[in-house]
Amino acid sequence: MGLDGVDKFDKVDRARFFLIVPLDFEKIALTELKQKWPTLSHWIRQSERQDEMPAVEIVPGGLLLETDLERGCLLNLLLKVPTRILLRVLSFRCRDFPKLYNKVRKIPWQHYLLGQLPEISASASKSRIMHTGRIKDCMLSAIQDFYKARPPSKKGVEAAQLLAVPTELYVRFEADECTLSIDTSGDPLYKRSYKTFVGKAPIRENLASALLMILQEQLPKREVSALIDPMCGSGTFLFEHLFLNCANFSRDYSFLHLPLFKPFLKHYDEIKSAYSFSVPVPLLSYLGFDIDPETITGAKSNCTNAVTPVVFETADLFNFKYKKFHDKNMVVLNPPYGERIKTTEMAGGLREYFHNIVEAIIVTYAPLLLAMVVPRKILMKEKIKGYQVVQTHLFTHGGIKLRFVIWADKRQKIEDKTPL
Ligand SMILES: C[S@@+](CC[C@H](N)C(=O)[O-])C[C@H]1O[C@@H](n2cnc3c(N)ncnc32)[C@H](O)[C@@H]1O
Repeated sequence: MGLDGVDKFDKVDRARFFLIVPLDFEKIALTELKQKWPTLSHWIRQSERQDEMPAVEIVPGGLLLETDLERGCLLNLLLKVPTRILLRVLSFRCRDFPKLYNKVRKIPWQHYLLGQLPEISASASKSRIMHTGRIKDCMLSAIQDFYKARPPSKKGVEAAQLLAVPTELYVRFEADECTLSIDTSGDPLYKRSYKTFVGKAPIRENLASALLMILQEQLPKREVSALIDPMCGSGTFLFEHLFLNCANFSRDYSFLHLPLFKPFLKHYDEIKSAYSFSVPVPLLSYLGFDIDPETITGAKSNCTNAVTPVVFETADLFNFKYKKFHDKNMVVLNPPYGERIKTTEMAGGLREYFHNIVEAIIVTYAPLLLAMVVPRKILMKEKIKGYQVVQTHLFTHGGIKLRFVIWADKRQKIEDKTPL
């Protein structure tokens, strides 16, 4: 294998990964994983290596799977729903600090660290060891003592000093079971790097992607050619839809600095240079409107790529001056809920405000599908002007209980394209 000791270490062929996923989105994260797994097989193209998707365990807030190291790390590039991807280092039963120290000191840290001390993120529940401060201290002294016995190379230590994001080690005690995992993502995966301007009250990129994937489930039956966000802010929904099937090679990831991944770096560079940005654009056009001109200027600055088919314009949804839209579009939006952004249109109460938004959208865009984030405390009508709710998804964002509601135009003849 070429890396000290790694050939004797089965972490390369069989590694366990934990994909941290926002609560309430575990199932859609699994759907995404299944859809994108063939891309990994296409990238790796090694017949002797297992191509089949492994069994995945769904747990609240994540997905657990076992695969080889390269595939598990490369998932960072493809998946839009997870927040980060952890590589399991070790799991063991532990009820006292001397055992924790001894176990941690014996881990071959040269496979995971360059010689630096990682940041420790500790949590504990229903365990004899509960003090997270002491857990961190014990972990750090065990790793320091590991380095005393096996000093890291000067080159490694220098490389570690150049890391933009510190390496993070996750320690979790749950019913006296200690699980150690190293982060492979670095910055959280919702930091996509293509967007520099952030509007007021933005939706997190990975939540936007997850909601769009739920919306996509309605698409096989309808021919949609445009996506419109009439209250677009920085354009999160539009960009996330545009890049839904693209791999993100334009940012750094912690796995690229993981000694275990070193043998795969050359292949990573080959995949990156062969990766074509001619991944088909999912829809013909993307339109974002916002009442605030400064927000629109900012959103336009996010369109750094000249070929981006996203158009932004200043417009008030309740006083829309552009031509009427009657092409085959769908609308998605996350309106203000009166918490961080308040508007005069909310004077009649939030329920009336949200119904007025739906009516204004139907009159202006006549969409095939209309999908909106609505606070759960607001009960929306099932049927509005020829539209009917076809799906809802409950979730929580920033502590607010929300509902993603999808209405469909009942008058459209829906052709069921599901194969017989
Ligand atoms: C919650 S933010 C949307 C954030 C956006 N989804 C994002 O991630 O950046 C709501 C946006 O609606 C805009 N807005 C409020 N009233 C509007 C109206 N009447 N017409 C158009 N935009 C409006 C606000 O300026 C704000 O940018």
